[in-house]
Amino acid sequence: MSKKILITGGAGFIGSHVVRLFVNNYPDYRIFNLDALTYAGNLENLTDVESSENYTFLKGDITDDEYIKSIFETHQFDGVIHLAAESHVDRSISDPLAFAKTNILGTMILLNSFKNLWQNNWEGKLFYHVSTDEVYGTLGDTGLFTETTSYDPNSPYSASKASSDHFVRAYGETYKIPYVISNCSNNYGANQFPEKLIPLFINNIINNKSLPVYGDGKYTRDWLYVDDHASAIDLVFHKGIMRGTYNIGGFNEWQNIDLIKLLCQQMDEKLGREKGESEKLITYVKDRPGHDLRYAIDASKINKELGWEPSVTFEQGLSKTIDWYLANEEWMSNIINGDYLKYYEKQYS
Ligand code: NAD
Ligand code: TYD
Repeated sequence: MSKKILITGGAGFIGSHVVRLFVNNYPDYRIFNLDALTYAGNLENLTDVESSENYTFLKGDITDDEYIKSIFETHQFDGVIHLAAESHVDRSISDPLAFAKTNILGTMILLNSFKNLWQNNWEGKLFYHVSTDEVYGTLGDTGLFTETTSYDPNSPYSASKASSDHFVRAYGETYKIPYVISNCSNNYGANQFPEKLIPLFINNIINNKSLPVYGDGKYTRDWLYVDDHASAIDLVFHKGIMRGTYNIGGFNEWQNIDLIKLLCQQMDEKLGREKGESEKLITYVKDRPGHDLRYAIDASKINKELGWEPSVTFEQGLSKTIDWYLANEEWMSNIINGDYLKYYEKQYS
């Protein structure tokens, strides 16, 4: 086993795709997946790799300093790929402290254990922090986020992620830990928890429930298929320039309402419904407070330096995503339980 890699948040949406890629593509690495299994963590996302020889699951919380110290001492991780986080903007508006705790304090606790374990013996070591484009705040009608855009976060979620990015850089400057950070746009694909726009709306269309569009629906996001994010993380982890940051995005901007109409069209076809039937479910609801108007990523640095580009078009990725949800209704029905229904009622009633 040549390297021991800790992936945090590996039972979540993006983390599970990253764990699968690393377990399958690097049989000589030992992959440890650390996850607290919050409402967003789901080991059903990883049934296909759970018995692989190079895979170990560790149930634990990144804010538990003693526990984190103990696993670093026991397993001596050479690399960390840190994805564990509270990740949903709407939840950050109702419970901001939970976001500060996990996203800021949890990241610091990991950084500290990594620093204390290796004590300047940095050869072959790397702390990879997975972050979001939301740290840059909002764009107007034009322009793109580049790696040098100033941080200007607007939600408790993006403020907590921005803070964690700053701590990673500060540990790099002060203690010389080798790090990379990537800031990615909105992801979509299989295994995404149905609180985010695309899986929520797929589930509601299947069940003929209304589609709650915030505000006028003219907010814009830049969407990337989750496996393309995982392949970018693989490249940045292995080839990224140390103490650098990379923006990752699909050059794929959609106004919410246009995306929702495309989703409705594809769902009508797949469900054998009459054209236009699902669109009737669209309902405009109260806007999200502090709603960022537009995110769009300039991904030319990762393209030029590392040769990365997305592998699917949005139409293809969306179609694959819908097919996955239609084929995995049990995955969804295991999530739609008491806690989820309570969240849904509170958020949308
Ligand atoms: P997710 O909410 O689906 O998964 C988060 C995972 O972290 C879950 O498995 C959860 O159990 C775990 N977790 C939460 N708190 C924890 C704690 N205290 N200790 C240990 N584990 C804990 O999130 P996601 O959408 O997969 O996002 C993963 C990462 O990627 C996050 O850091 C997020 O900021 C970043 N990101 C997400 C997107 C996106 O569109 N989803 C885009 C860019 C960046
Ligand atoms: P979301 O998936 O929560 O991602 P983020 O807020 O991190 O970009 O939301 C994507 C867009 O969809 C965002 O502009 C908010 C909007 N949205 C709705 O209109 N209705 C909803 O029920 C949700 C969850 C999101």
